[in-house]
Amino acid sequence: MHAAAPSDPHVEARDVGLSFGNRVVFQDLDCAFPRGRITVLMGGSGAGKSTLLRMIGGLERPDRGSIRVAGEEITGLRESELFRVRQRIGMLFQGGALLDSLSVAENVGLPLHEHAGLPADAIAAEVQRRLDSVGLPDVGDLLPSQLSGGMVRRIALARAIVRDPEIVLCDEPFSGLDPLNVRRIEALLVRLNQRLGLTLIVASHHVTSAFRMAHHLVFLLQGAAITGTPEELEASGDPRVEQFFAADREAEAEVQAWEGTG
Ligand SMILES: Nc1ncnc2c1ncn2[C@@H]1O[C@H](COP(=O)(O)OP(=O)(O)OP(=O)(O)O)[C@@H](O)[C@H]1O
Ligand SMILES: [Mg+2]
Repeated sequence: MHAAAPSDPHVEARDVGLSFGNRVVFQDLDCAFPRGRITVLMGGSGAGKSTLLRMIGGLERPDRGSIRVAGEEITGLRESELFRVRQRIGMLFQGGALLDSLSVAENVGLPLHEHAGLPADAIAAEVQRRLDSVGLPDVGDLLPSQLSGGMVRRIALARAIVRDPEIVLCDEPFSGLDPLNVRRIEALLVRLNQRLGLTLIVASHHVTSAFRMAHHLVFLLQGAAITGTPEELEASGDPRVEQFFAADREAEAEVQAWEGTG
């Protein structure tokens, strides 16, 4: 698909170890996320995808090792310094995580209220620009409960990019969506990457979409990472990777048969 040597890593994890109690999540994890590229982070449930995104976003600290964001080591930073690093990062959390009691526009504008100290009309304009960019210009006054699942995801994406981040972390942006909405979110992500040059790190189980959109794959397996282009990983012959792909193809076929589209 695309040439994607991670020659210019925007985010890097080196020798990272992390355990919760006696549950070892990462052991000598090494992986890099190239600048201006789309990297899909794969791996089974519990492999540590969300945890790695949280470490990159400075929401979780590793027990040891190094996490570098845009060349800066973040593992030893104080909270006030992490705050500055987080300004460069947009996050789309697993499930979308909009606040039910706030309107869509208030949800999207929230990161601006929290951090930038902008006047209200500037915030409103920025929010509208982001709603336009995810193809939902007219929903600002609605409550999240009045949106479909696919719309919630697009609004969460609008919120993730409202502060003009250079890196966007997306945790399972496709889960629970029908195939049409998967394609929609995917197209939005690809456009953000192509038009704005954003570095995207997308945790996803969705193998077909990963192969469509990823320049680079990071595959979490037993505390470590296998990385490469989709083609490289498919051709790697690594039995653990093959097993994951085979299980996914089976699940996908089942879903399609069940939906009557296969
Ligand atoms: N705050 C925490 N305290 C204790 N254990 C945790 C915590 N966060 C994550 N874990 C554990 O770390 C492991 C990795 O979790 P994580 O949520 O990162 O997996 P994941 O790859 O995102 O899974 P999924 O695909 O289901 O979202 C799991 O075993 C989980 O139980
Ligand atoms: Mg997760």
